[in-house]
Amino acid sequence: MNAIDIRNKYLKFFEKHGHVIIPSAPLIPENDPSVLFTTAGMQPLVPYLLGQKHPEGKRLTDYQKCVRTVDIDEVGDNRHLTYFEMLGNWSLGDYFKEESIQMSFDFLTKELGITVEKLSVTVFAGDEDAPRDEESASIWKKVGMPEDHIYYFGKEDNWWIAGEVGPCGPDTEMFYDTGKEPCSEHCNPSCSCGKYVEIWNNVFMEYYKEKDGTYSKLKQRNVDTGLGLERMNMLLQGKETPYDTEIFLPVMEKLQELATNDNLQSRRIVAEHLRSSIMIISDGGRPSNVDRGYVLRRLIRRMTRHLNKLGISLDELGNLIELNINVLNKMYPELNKNKETIKQVILEEKDKFIKTLSHGEKEFEKALLRIKNENKDKLDGQTVFKLYDTYGFPPEVTKDLAIEQGYKIDMDGFEKLYKEHQEKSRMGSEQKFKGGLADQTPETISYHTATHLLNAALKVVIGPDVHQQGSNITKERMRFDFNCDHKLTDEEKEKIEKLVNEWIKEALPVTAEEMKKEDAIKSGAECMFIEKYPDIVTVYKIGEVSKELCGGPHVKNTSELGVFKIKKEEASSAGIRRIKAVLIKE
Ligand code: SER
Repeated sequence: MNAIDIRNKYLKFFEKHGHVIIPSAPLIPENDPSVLFTTAGMQPLVPYLLGQKHPEGKRLTDYQKCVRTVDIDEVGDNRHLTYFEMLGNWSLGDYFKEESIQMSFDFLTKELGITVEKLSVTVFAGDEDAPRDEESASIWKKVGMPEDHIYYFGKEDNWWIAGEVGPCGPDTEMFYDTGKEPCSEHCNPSCSCGKYVEIWNNVFMEYYKEKDGTYSKLKQRNVDTGLGLERMNMLLQGKETPYDTEIFLPVMEKLQELATNDNLQSRRIVAEHLRSSIMIISDGGRPSNVDRGYVLRRLIRRMTRHLNKLGISLDELGNLIELNINVLNKMYPELNKNKETIKQVILEEKDKFIKTLSHGEKEFEKALLRIKNENKDKLDGQTVFKLYDTYGFPPEVTKDLAIEQGYKIDMDGFEKLYKEHQEKSRMGSEQKFKGGLADQTPETISYHTATHLLNAALKVVIGPDVHQQGSNITKERMRFDFNCDHKLTDEEKEKIEKLVNEWIKEALPVTAEEMKKEDAIKSGAECMFIEKYPDIVTVYKIGEVSKELCGGPHVKNTSELGVFKIKKEEASSAGIRRIKAVLIKE
């Protein structure tokens, strides 16, 4: 069995149990521009978990492309991945614990053939916010889970929420026993020694966590499950790491063949970051200095550094990308279509990085001269950090170069600054998640509707071929990227602003209609990633001026938006312009 077999079995199994297979949403959230990447299967489904009717019904299943960046610096060990695929099934106010647990148990034991002895489960122990989940425990017993394989844990283990606010609830997690010796007499599934590996998480999502930390009941009781495909594949093949499976092996072996200075960790980093970069670029991501663009930049640069470390010529990178796309397109056929763009983006970023590195060397020489003149023998942590942060110069390289010239470096000082920086970026990504769809505020909803108006106005003022290329919304402002071959003139900007404000004044109704995807396209509805939508889609219309495929949510009437004001128009990347705008409420 390999990853594709597991994915197919999963989707077929849930289809047989009345679920509709929906397509994976893109890695870059379409209607949730305030989060970095799609990090879980439930993320694109938040509006439906909150009660909006899903066009495909109450039982859904899919595979979802996900990127989680919190652990980026851990990649290279035997388990952390930035890109991974999550298999999921959902009940939107339909079945609950009983059916969910029964289906998971049957899938694991009958479809995947895992014996009960290898399985353990955990359930929520209960606290002041929600009761002890004895119901799930007794269902597990009923389906055939031995009592001593059922564990109770608190919120830190058995409660799931995306970020700080939003839909959430107790979960039951399933674990696979690798057969390793217990690390102590207390070894259990919550232990990180590696004996138990989490394979599936069923969240019984019936609560909503408010900003003030209190919980209320959702309109409906949902089930949200997630199964990590790479991990399951590794376990079923009896492998120690995902790098030993067909997903990574061809690239890992090629790297070994090319390396003149082989080391396993660097090969894993290259293989992992190459795969993530390919997937992100294919879904529209581009390197930059902010947000998700910066994550992509870091992935490509770290990969380049480790290719260097392995002693592999960077001229090989093009072939490695081709090889990896050939491995991956069995699972993601869309990669073939985007192959040339993916190659171009990675190779250009690699070239930029090489230039950066050579600047870094100059900076290093200057710093060394300075400490020589000051009669010191140690490069301070601040300089080592600056070389790392600004010039992408790895501290171990700085150290080697310094030692060669008879100097030391303040590694402790560097580590301290590095940790502070990491803490800041961790907080930054958590902040991002907090701002996601789970946290729909009236402000972000207004901005979301305004992007549709701006999209329509651009078509009138600039031309019908202008389309949205991305957007980003916070409570304070909107950002909108579109294709355009020139800098907008003042006159064009004024016309756009005026048009949007006229539409706002006209108090146009915002309406949603479900229809077949092909009918939506025929009707001329605007859409960014047509192939990512299910067969039945929601089209949002704003009066007669805008028609877009979209998941919502939106304001009911444009009169709620306030006054639209363009703050800035600038280049985003080649052929792409960016407008920053605000809505001023009167
Ligand atoms: N949302 C849950 C998770 O990500 C289950 O899918 O683990």
